[in-house]
Amino acid sequence: MSNYHIKNLEEYFQVYRKSVRDPENFWEEIAEENFLWRKRWDKVLEYDLSKSEFSWYKGAKLNITENCIDRHLYTHANKTAIIFEPNNPDEMAEHISYRQLHDRVCRFANVLQNHGIQKGDRVCIYLPMIPDLAISLLACARIGAIHSVVFAGFSASALSSRINDSDCKMVITSDGSYRGNKTIDLKGIVDDALESCPGVKTVLVAKRTNSDIPMKENRDKWLQPLLDAAKNECEPVIMDAEDPLFILYTSGSTGKPKGMVHTIAGYMVYTAHSFKNVFQYRENDVFWCTADIGWITGHSYIVYGPLANGATTLMFEGVPSYPDFGRFWNVVEKHKVTQFYTAPTAIRALAKEKTDFLEKYDLSSLKILGSVGEPINEEAWHWYNDNIGKKNCPIVDTWWQTETGGIMISPIPYSTPTIPTYATLPLPGIQPALMGENGEELKGNSVSGKLCIKFPWPAMARTIWNNHERYRETYFSAYKDMYFSGDGALRDSTGYYRITGRVDDVIIVSGHNLGTAPIEDSINEHPAVSESAIVGFPHNIKGNALYGYVILKETGESRMHDNLRKEINQIITEHIGPIAKLDKIQFVSGLPKTRSGKIMRRILRKIAEKDTSNLGDISTLLNPEIVEEIMKEAL
Ligand code: PRX
Repeated sequence: MSNYHIKNLEEYFQVYRKSVRDPENFWEEIAEENFLWRKRWDKVLEYDLSKSEFSWYKGAKLNITENCIDRHLYTHANKTAIIFEPNNPDEMAEHISYRQLHDRVCRFANVLQNHGIQKGDRVCIYLPMIPDLAISLLACARIGAIHSVVFAGFSASALSSRINDSDCKMVITSDGSYRGNKTIDLKGIVDDALESCPGVKTVLVAKRTNSDIPMKENRDKWLQPLLDAAKNECEPVIMDAEDPLFILYTSGSTGKPKGMVHTIAGYMVYTAHSFKNVFQYRENDVFWCTADIGWITGHSYIVYGPLANGATTLMFEGVPSYPDFGRFWNVVEKHKVTQFYTAPTAIRALAKEKTDFLEKYDLSSLKILGSVGEPINEEAWHWYNDNIGKKNCPIVDTWWQTETGGIMISPIPYSTPTIPTYATLPLPGIQPALMGENGEELKGNSVSGKLCIKFPWPAMARTIWNNHERYRETYFSAYKDMYFSGDGALRDSTGYYRITGRVDDVIIVSGHNLGTAPIEDSINEHPAVSESAIVGFPHNIKGNALYGYVILKETGESRMHDNLRKEINQIITEHIGPIAKLDKIQFVSGLPKTRSGKIMRRILRKIAEKDTSNLGDISTLLNPEIVEEIMKEAL
């Protein structure tokens, strides 16, 4: 099964059965093909469920950048590795060949080393979608440093808490960033964040907007002169299979964000293999994932998965609406994109615009379309299929998570017949289970329950940085010997999976995971607020929007309420970022609570959804009368 590409449904089932019968052999064969190992593994998989410890390819030695860059130099050094499409369409796109990528990553890695960064050190990367972002990840990996990318839309306070949680020594940022017609002062945000990060000794600053910014002596350094002066060769540091590659923070339903830790070998094998199969990657394809590298989708399917396959991957700095709503299609035409991977929220936003925006462009290079991040509704699926794919491109609705590292449930193009809103079948090696109310596995078809995974897979996150107990508790304690995803799903009569959404207090807004607890905590910091509760409600573009119920310390005059609403959103923007702003804020005198004091979010959700016909039994609440009051005043 060398160079393994699944070609039809029969072959899928054959491979799938084999992967379940003997997972270790299955993952061993895949690791043997096409990767560069400095030393072979002693054992494919070792795990101890009682401790939630997992180890893949134990004993192997490698460097992931040799796999993503160096080995391609022998066969296609001049092939484009990264196409950079700038925010402004009038600025020239950049084509970075594998040879140039090697040169740039080595220089960057030397700069890191020259600033004292060593194997195991944590480096925070807070950059816009410019080539230096992808290059900085690879430079860290070259020398065994652990990168922690923070999405450059997060606020100073969100940034500093992530920097401190993983004790980053260095921050890599830029003077500013472009987003459509806006220029954002990224370095100013970093400066604010670093007021509370004593561990950061160096800030490397890439030039992007040429803004006049203050540079703190001995701490801040312009990146480019350092790169120019550095050597363009850097020996890769040889790493153990299970050494951490990166930390990436994701929201939890409670508490602070979780620093998910991914390790090198399993993540590399899995992202490379899933990229090849789910996108049916072929030589000369141009792959475009529109995510930001600040999220897992960008880590796995802009950087590591495509580069491990020697593919051409496109990085887009801008937004779908700038200079107009035709930008995505303009980029597809310009670079002859073959696989296009985006989020339902973007599809919905574009679908509501006039089709003139896409009719002007030639989309005939497209072969495969992808969707990720949230359930795709039927209407958006059809619009995507009809207008972008011209009914000629399979749509892969890919279900996965920051924690899973790579795609878990997805059609394989040309093999798996697709149905709108269904992620369809698990990838080989992935064993989903649906669990019932009493913790039992729901076997057979036509069932729905909580989505778990029964057997380890190579790209699973291994721990939460500095908090293995929270990892065990969050993912491995709800059901015995299973990974619990936090999602609900149904398995239809043919065995196809459809993801129905989160079953915990994480809300997905425009494809971004937001935990209710940190938003509530920040609202509660407003001096006028005594308590708050956040729920999601359906939104026709964002998928979900946020609805906040807020109790004020003093009721105050209602003419002050609009000001308070603004201030509450301001405080959320400062603590988390604009993505967590509330669409609706209702001031209430109490929140429905159980007798043990737990907020009944189910009721609040129904009110926010304006679906109050069946609120269930509220008589057991501590304060049933509040429900009527909230309903009466609902927005
Ligand atoms: O609820 C699921 C939803 O996104 C969550 C994971 O979010 P995050 O860790 O940010 O990773 C997003 C990109 C991989 C999941 O728990 N989700 C992701 N993909 C889908 C989805 N929901 C439905 N269908 C999908 N295809």
